[in-house]
Amino acid sequence: MQTPFNMQDKVVAITGASSGFGHHFAGVLAAAGATVILGARREDKLAARVAEIEAAGGKAIAASLDVRERNSISAFLNIGFERFGRLDVVINNAGVEAGAKTYHTIDEDDWNYVLDTNLKSAWLVSKLYTDGVLAHKQGGGNIIMVSSITDTRTIKGQFPYAVSKGGMTRMTEVMALEAAKYKIRVNALAPGYFLTDVSRLLLESPAAGDFVNGIPMRRTGEFPDLDGPLLLLASDASNYMTGSVLTVDGGHVCASL
Ligand SMILES: NC(=O)c1ccc[n+]([C@@H]2O[C@H](COP(=O)([O-])OP(=O)(O)OC[C@H]3O[C@@H](n4cnc5c(N)ncnc54)[C@H](OP(=O)(O)O)[C@@H]3O)[C@@H](O)[C@H]2O)c1
Repeated sequence: MQTPFNMQDKVVAITGASSGFGHHFAGVLAAAGATVILGARREDKLAARVAEIEAAGGKAIAASLDVRERNSISAFLNIGFERFGRLDVVINNAGVEAGAKTYHTIDEDDWNYVLDTNLKSAWLVSKLYTDGVLAHKQGGGNIIMVSSITDTRTIKGQFPYAVSKGGMTRMTEVMALEAAKYKIRVNALAPGYFLTDVSRLLLESPAAGDFVNGIPMRRTGEFPDLDGPLLLLASDASNYMTGSVLTVDGGHVCASL
């Protein structure tokens, strides 16, 4: 059955696809018909994921990527533009955190590591993607940011991470405004808490029980909870959406009392 969420014939590049969300997103998008290009530094994990997707009948390519390196980003995006003549969607998903530190206890290396990986890279990937869309006369494009509910609400000890996500959500809105003239849409997913390497420190700590009780749905997210919102933003189902931030958090940001 054709649905507006169909990804047939679309080429999608995902940063940070060696684990967690990006690893999951690659399978979801491939199952919906997309050709997916998986980028990250751990090439062995990418190769294993590509093999899984191909075994399931999907189309996938692994590409070594460090989002802190301009040349590496260019080479990654060019797989889509040069091999397929187009890159329909790019997902800025790569992200890191600095451990349970505060503004007072991080040092400049922590700041640069988190801000360069989470925020600067999302700008640079989007800028170079826009160059490619225009150079290849693609007629439009689609950028998805993986932000976080820490963009607006946070807890102590997430200093550089939450700052990066606040910037990413603002970037989504400003970029949407500026990219509309190129027919490039820019939207964000803002997940709540899901167990991955980024959240493990908190969700496996003794404080985790109380923390999860603060989520109205009384549970952390499971990867499939993101499938519908992801397919909405990646597909033509969201053709008139740009500058939107989709919160997927079991009601966590509503829980203010
Ligand atoms: N888990 C949550 O609760 C949660 C909630 C909201 C938002 N998020 C966001 O979701 C995104 C994915 O994180 P995750 O939770 O899935 O954690 P994860 O499993 O640790 O995934 C992070 C991914 O980013 C990649 N990465 C890190 N530095 C990179 C670099 N310099 N160049 C290229 N890739 C790089 C990692 O791959 P390599 O190490 O192989 O390079 C990995 O694939 C992040 O932006 C995170 O902030 C997570």
